[in-house]
Amino acid sequence: MDASTRLTTKTSESPSHVSTSSAPKSSGRVKNTLLTLTVLASFTAGVFFTSNVMHTDMSTWRHLPAVQQVSEQFKLVGTFVSSVAKKLQSPGPAGSFEKSEVFRTFVKEKVGNATTVEEYIASVRAYLLNFRSPMIRERPEEYSWPETEKEQVKAETKDGVPPKNKIKKITWYNAPGYIKRVSSLELFGHCPVKDCSLSWSRKDHAQADVVLFRGAPGKTVIPRAHPGQIYLFHVMESPVLTNGHYRDSPWNSAFNWTWNYRVDSDIFYPVDYLKRPSTVPSMDQLRDVMRQKTKRVSWISSNCNVQSQRDQYVKRLQQTIPVDHYGRCGKLKCDGKTPNCSAILNDYFYYLSFENAMCPDYVTEKFYKTFFQDIHVLAVVRGGATYSRFFPEGTFIDAESFASPEELGRYLLDLSQDEARYVDMLWRKAHFVYHEHGNVDAYCQLCYKAHHAERFAKTYPNLYGWYNRDQCKPPRKF
Ligand SMILES: *[C@@H]1O[C@H](CO)[C@@H](O)[C@H](O)[C@H]1NC(C)=O
Ligand SMILES: *[C@@H]1O[C@H](CO)[C@@H](O)[C@H](O)[C@H]1NC(C)=O
Ligand SMILES: *[C@@H]1O[C@H](CO)[C@@H](O)[C@H](O)[C@H]1NC(C)=O
Repeated sequence: MDASTRLTTKTSESPSHVSTSSAPKSSGRVKNTLLTLTVLASFTAGVFFTSNVMHTDMSTWRHLPAVQQVSEQFKLVGTFVSSVAKKLQSPGPAGSFEKSEVFRTFVKEKVGNATTVEEYIASVRAYLLNFRSPMIRERPEEYSWPETEKEQVKAETKDGVPPKNKIKKITWYNAPGYIKRVSSLELFGHCPVKDCSLSWSRKDHAQADVVLFRGAPGKTVIPRAHPGQIYLFHVMESPVLTNGHYRDSPWNSAFNWTWNYRVDSDIFYPVDYLKRPSTVPSMDQLRDVMRQKTKRVSWISSNCNVQSQRDQYVKRLQQTIPVDHYGRCGKLKCDGKTPNCSAILNDYFYYLSFENAMCPDYVTEKFYKTFFQDIHVLAVVRGGATYSRFFPEGTFIDAESFASPEELGRYLLDLSQDEARYVDMLWRKAHFVYHEHGNVDAYCQLCYKAHHAERFAKTYPNLYGWYNRDQCKPPRKF
């Protein structure tokens, strides 16, 4: 549950409200006083209330422009101080807190060094720019690899010149349709280790150093053509949709490497990427965007009644906030792929990026499409991934941090009526844009590993256990 929602609804007397409806103006003295009170109340609260309160409070804090943060926190103070004061009889002299380590730690954690809106903006920018994640490509022209492997490549390639190795032969046994059929030069030509050739024909199985399988075809393992032949398991669907038919078959222990969106797979291949755009719209521009929005929540879905129970969840959500449901499962028409369909998103405050299954690291294009360059809509995510690990906070809303759909709905309504906070989030999100996938990353990594198979020697003794069993959790009760 989000603290600010609770506070705005609960607090009847909110003292000296600082206006945030246009560009926030700072008022130093008021703020300092408020901050002191905030510190005092939060600190005392931290002692007496559960750490949960502090935690929610902290995650909310950074979403807000500085002035508003203080005013929100001032409401918080009202609630906390009255109950804490009862316990304490007296909240104690504020000055002593200001000088204390607790005060400094608090200020550092919560507001950074920001005392003005400009400083706040600068510190948020720094946070966004420094945010690192495997789904964010720092330099889109480069393949993205784990840093440790990049180091190894550097060590093995002199002045960027790859060693003269023999060509490694790689073949698909049953390539999925979405894998581009392009020349080996296009796939490997730019890679640090590029001496690889790729075939699409299973007839080349006998000569191949590495064989790529989509899933596990057939009941019995196709015998390796030679003992060193590497078998690779590729799949991009969620484990819920991919039947684990290999569970009781010898395929279950036949694979050496995996190629998947799971961060811990051998060839890491997220569904999509984000990159940093060359320019970010101003808050004023985004304020105009927001003012033109006429509708609350949009949702496009084409698989109905899935593992994540998103249909039931949205049904409940609709009791609190209107949701326009497009796609095969909804009443409105839009296939989700045409540019028009993306364009409608700008009419909405929110787009539901609800995954069909709650599986680790499983984040699909439903999320990434809200990051198209000219799309300014906030994604409400619901899935099995730890989103905060991959995407910076304040750029999306995670349904899982709300106790119920109704609570989420109330939060969304509130936020859509709070220009400063909503625009702040749009602006944060605008620091990242969709980056088309391309297959090249995976192939560079594949070629490199093919050339160093001894170092990456490995077998999955129980693939089902790694990929399927208990991996996708049933949705939390809502
Ligand atoms: C805050 O200020 C201190 C001291 O001036 C500085 O060392 C630190 O880097 C600043 N932190 C941020 C997040 O700007
Ligand atoms: C879809 O987009 C095309 C091209 O921008 C436009 O001509 C057409 O009118 C749009 N259709 C709808 C339903 O908005
Ligand atoms: C690949 O896996 C098989 C077992 O399925 C194993 O015998 C072989 O040594 C593995 N090869 C490498 C290079 O890891």
